[in-house]
Amino acid sequence: MSKTYALPSLMAAVITISAGLIQHAHAAEEVNLYSARKEALIKPLLDAFTQDTGIKVNLLTGKADALLKRLSHEGENSPADVLLTTDAGRLFRAKQAGVTQPFSSVEIDKVVPEQYRDPEEHWVGLSLRARPILYVKGKVDPKQLSSYEDLSDPKWKQRICIRSSSNIYNQSLVASLIAANGEAKAEAWAKGLVANLAKPPKGGDRDQIKAAAAGVCDIAIANTYYLAGMLNSKDAGQVAAAEKMAVFWPNQSGRGAHVNISGAAIMKSAKNKAAAVKLIEYLVSPKSQAWYAETNGEYPVVSNISPSRTLAAWGAFKADNLNLSKLGTLNATAVRVMDRANWR
Ligand SMILES: [Fe+2]
Repeated sequence: MSKTYALPSLMAAVITISAGLIQHAHAAEEVNLYSARKEALIKPLLDAFTQDTGIKVNLLTGKADALLKRLSHEGENSPADVLLTTDAGRLFRAKQAGVTQPFSSVEIDKVVPEQYRDPEEHWVGLSLRARPILYVKGKVDPKQLSSYEDLSDPKWKQRICIRSSSNIYNQSLVASLIAANGEAKAEAWAKGLVANLAKPPKGGDRDQIKAAAAGVCDIAIANTYYLAGMLNSKDAGQVAAAEKMAVFWPNQSGRGAHVNISGAAIMKSAKNKAAAVKLIEYLVSPKSQAWYAETNGEYPVVSNISPSRTLAAWGAFKADNLNLSKLGTLNATAVRVMDRANWR
């Protein structure tokens, strides 16, 4: 269930009368934010933003797909100014649903690489997540690993764990393979991958890591922040499982490892667009980017900001520089490819 809070309406303008003069004290500037990121992952940044700018942020958090449904339902009457959500595929869906509008900012364009921005300026990336190959130390010689493509080779039969095709992270990964190799090759690849699965593709990314650590498979595909979260967990079992795993950066001699973003869009219904742009600019500032990277276990979207110590230990890598809007435009094709490959 999504958590919901009532959004306070704009504070009524306060009118003070003194010595025969009428003064209109303007209501404080504010911005209404719908966030698929959990409150703990965003609230401290919003508080700092308010502190620095005087702009109040009204936060409503919920699950990504529920928030998008809500935005579509509210339409022009939506109080939302900004949507924060994960995966370029979802940002694309919001744009396609017609609830977003273009916005431009010289400051954002200066610091956020072009491949992490919508070409029509409807959304912009705020943090970067990578989806590399994780392997069980001692069970896989990293010399045997090379690319995502290679995971369809029969040498990996019954050795791979990956979650279901209904998950947008996998849809985006397959979309990146379609962009690189074309639909036919991507489908042959997906069939080969499915034939190599050690178990039905159930559970989330963490479950794939746990299954690998428990000996069910030798390779897991997962976003790195899950591994980082497990390594820094208070749960000794999660730490122990994560410590059995190593990160392999695939496709380093080619296009690079698959990456995705969390990002922000401005709503078509926005009544506080200027404040909304200021908020997004704030979220790509060095201060926010450093906090984001440290707290979320994601990579900064802006260069020259160091990732957290946990992430730095996995080394630098080459990221696929495909414009992430492609993950959206190729999403439907990716879903069909996975379906034909019987990827459950
Ligand atoms: Fe996630």
